[in-house]
Amino acid sequence: MFLKVENLKKSYKTGDVTTTVLKGVGMNLDQGEIGIILGPSGSGKSTLLNIIGGIDRCDSGIVSVDNIEITKLNDTKLTDYRRERLGFIFQFYNLIPNLTAGENIEVASNISISPLNTDEVLNAVGMLDKKHRFPKELSGGEQQRVSIARAIVKNPKLLLCDEPTGALDFSTSREILKLLQKINKDFGSTILMITHNTAISAMANKVYKVRSGEIVESMVNKTTMPAERIEW
Ligand SMILES: Nc1ncnc2c1ncn2[C@@H]1O[C@H](COP(=O)(O)OP(=O)(O)OP(=O)(O)O)[C@@H](O)[C@H]1O
Ligand SMILES: [Mg+2]
Repeated sequence: MFLKVENLKKSYKTGDVTTTVLKGVGMNLDQGEIGIILGPSGSGKSTLLNIIGGIDRCDSGIVSVDNIEITKLNDTKLTDYRRERLGFIFQFYNLIPNLTAGENIEVASNISISPLNTDEVLNAVGMLDKKHRFPKELSGGEQQRVSIARAIVKNPKLLLCDEPTGALDFSTSREILKLLQKINKDFGSTILMITHNTAISAMANKVYKVRSGEIVESMVNKTTMPAERIEW
């Protein structure tokens, strides 16, 4: 099992109030699979993804990625894991504003062990011709494509996406999903993606529905649908 999450628990304390956000979550993905996490706002999806991505810590439980038990790593090792093995795509792109598209990608490739070629990756997301533009000179969909390029230039075995199409219109969303499917196929990256959109689950091998910090349903799709055929 490439990604394994077992009995994951997480609470946040604000003042005297403790909010339990994850109440014993379990899930798994084989290498090369696409997994989707569905669930209403506030159900704990980002918290789960952030713990898998080593951005946040759990209270108890196990996360293991590619045979590394990341829940046991110290801060330095966890930072190495994040830098070297992970691609992370955020809902609001998070590009560095005073660097061009190409430079944003080079920042990521410089910290990776076996990065892909920057131009090759820009070409894969259809942005090579805009390599020298700054983020503010790009549309939302274009910025998201650059942020995908930034995540995949690291050649990550695991690509985590927190609502990558949340800020985009339907046709741009479909292009982004096609791109993620292509990356999964061409580079063999395992992908775990959060979405609000049930229709997107057709392109996944596994679908997990989260409600109030628990997985209430998990599904395995025998066949997956190409993104261009998804109706929504
Ligand atoms: N740092 C924090 N401190 C306190 N509470 C937090 C913190 N981060 C998240 N929470 C709470 O945890 C719950 C789950 O948040 P989370 O961001 O995981 O939800 P989500 O499912 O990603 O929602 P959305 O779809 O709106 O992004 C929310 O009730 C939120 O208020
Ligand atoms: Mg969220």
